[in-house]
Amino acid sequence: MKISDLDLSRIPTHIAAVMDGNGRWAESRKLPRTEGHTAGEQSLMDVLEGADDLGVKWFTVFAFSTENWARPSEEVKFLLNFNEKILLERRDELNERNVRIRFIGRRNRQVPRRLIRRMEETENLTKGNTGLTFTIAFNYGGRAEIVDAVKRIIDEGMSAERINEKTISRHLYDPTIPDPDLVIRTSGEYRVSNFLLWEIAYSELIFSETLWPDFRREDLFTAVKEYQDRDRRYGGVSET
Ligand code: IPE
Ligand code: IPE
Ligand code: MG
Repeated sequence: MKISDLDLSRIPTHIAAVMDGNGRWAESRKLPRTEGHTAGEQSLMDVLEGADDLGVKWFTVFAFSTENWARPSEEVKFLLNFNEKILLERRDELNERNVRIRFIGRRNRQVPRRLIRRMEETENLTKGNTGLTFTIAFNYGGRAEIVDAVKRIIDEGMSAERINEKTISRHLYDPTIPDPDLVIRTSGEYRVSNFLLWEIAYSELIFSETLWPDFRREDLFTAVKEYQDRDRRYGGVSET
């Protein structure tokens, strides 16, 4: 699939991706699981560039879930270091490409202070950029996000009768992010795994059999093509 095969007037504004299958990619090559995470960096950079070329304005990835702490401590340690390494190595080039980098997730004491500092530095470095907004969900859980939103609403002393859907939306980790139009999950797993629960109420979901380390921009374009063939009705009836 190429960009010229797509309807450029109907590019999704926000694409979110669950980058899954790194471990299986490595295991199938008799490599340690961590090699799959390393290989996934190429996919991420390629897909990000493809999204930017398409004119996608918001791109969000699931990098580490609130459940991923349950993995073997060696893998958790690797993922923490790896995410910091990618940030340090890639943020200048993304900054030059006018990409604004943001993070969503719990920035609590489970996350090493140094990594939190890197996140803050990166957000500050890129905050003035006007190109694609690249959001990294780190120590993120959709249920945790809703719980954290509810806590803040209560802390603000809001009365129950004033609370509506907009109230919840305004208290999410980054209320400026529009809901995803398209969510892609790789590796042939047909589940959401606690990603953006509130935000995906009306997103189009596309599942790819490709393992994340093999996923490239052409696969993104294929998903966008499928998205363009869908009929988004939002509970209504289609306009024909
Ligand atoms: C996704 O790949 C990366 C993270 C969850 C950090 P996995 O590590 O989940 O790979 P599989 O699903 O075990 O193959
Ligand atoms: C979701 O993938 C989390 C990330 C991609 C970061 P998982 O591999 O952790 O999800 P499950 O365990 O298959 O549901
Ligand atoms: Mg997985």
